[in-house]
Amino acid sequence: MPLAFDVLEEGFGAEIQGLRETDSLGPALVDELRKGLADFGVLLIRNEEITPERLVQLGNAFGELEILPEPEKRHPDHPEIFNLSNLRDDGQVVDYEEPQSVFLRGTERWHTDSSFRNIPCLCTMLYAVEVPENGGETQFANMIAALEGLPSDLREVVNQNRLVHSYVFSRANNPGRMDPMSPEEEAKYPPVTHPWVRTHADGRQSLYMGGHVSHVEGMDVNEGRELVELVLQEATRPEFIYEHQWADNDLVIWDNRSTLHRLRPYDISNTRRVMRRITVAGTEPVI
Ligand code: SIN
Repeated sequence: MPLAFDVLEEGFGAEIQGLRETDSLGPALVDELRKGLADFGVLLIRNEEITPERLVQLGNAFGELEILPEPEKRHPDHPEIFNLSNLRDDGQVVDYEEPQSVFLRGTERWHTDSSFRNIPCLCTMLYAVEVPENGGETQFANMIAALEGLPSDLREVVNQNRLVHSYVFSRANNPGRMDPMSPEEEAKYPPVTHPWVRTHADGRQSLYMGGHVSHVEGMDVNEGRELVELVLQEATRPEFIYEHQWADNDLVIWDNRSTLHRLRPYDISNTRRVMRRITVAGTEPVI
């Protein structure tokens, strides 16, 4: 039976009906999921228990999985799974200022995953193991609609410029002190540039920016940052946003090519939020 996509927010985001844990991920089903992802930007599966093995299987159906830069956050049996959790190894909730909390709070900035790579990732899958009652939502912004809605003067700016994305920059700008990365890890992530406007395989275009952007290529750093801020404000107006209120066992898959996302604050040093995340590698440079 084909999948049904129930739209969440005026053409942006869709809830998938009809995908069960036991369904084998054959090419027809994967094509439907890929098309749904490109059409809606964000896909949601509610209330489905998904084991780490199944999560990796789902990710592999979309492509090769990335291994993320922070080794200590990898799942012990599945290094492709990144544990986005505010629990320490001893099971206690983190303190507000400790590096694990600072890292998680860094995801409260609008960003698109892995834009610091020369070939950035295709999509992310985030699975909720345990979520707080209040706060901790994830917001997604539709960068295709945002580009269309941009005032013409800013549209000219984005069409004419490229942005420099850097993991070392964004990590250094996290909201607090983090453990230093080893020089070997840092060397793996030199800055890269991408066009500010991304052209997709089907000809549509979107803004491509977010928290890993250090500056506008070839422009005075401060002037460039002001422009980036201005465009970001326009691009994240409420009409471009879907906010996901998590429940345990929700899976959200988002298209990093055409969306930005951010975590909303929650009482990080008192309530538990345990998420498992995988990112699927892209296959071509941004054009
Ligand atoms: C992320 O930024 O990749 C995760 C966002 C979240 O935890 O809601």
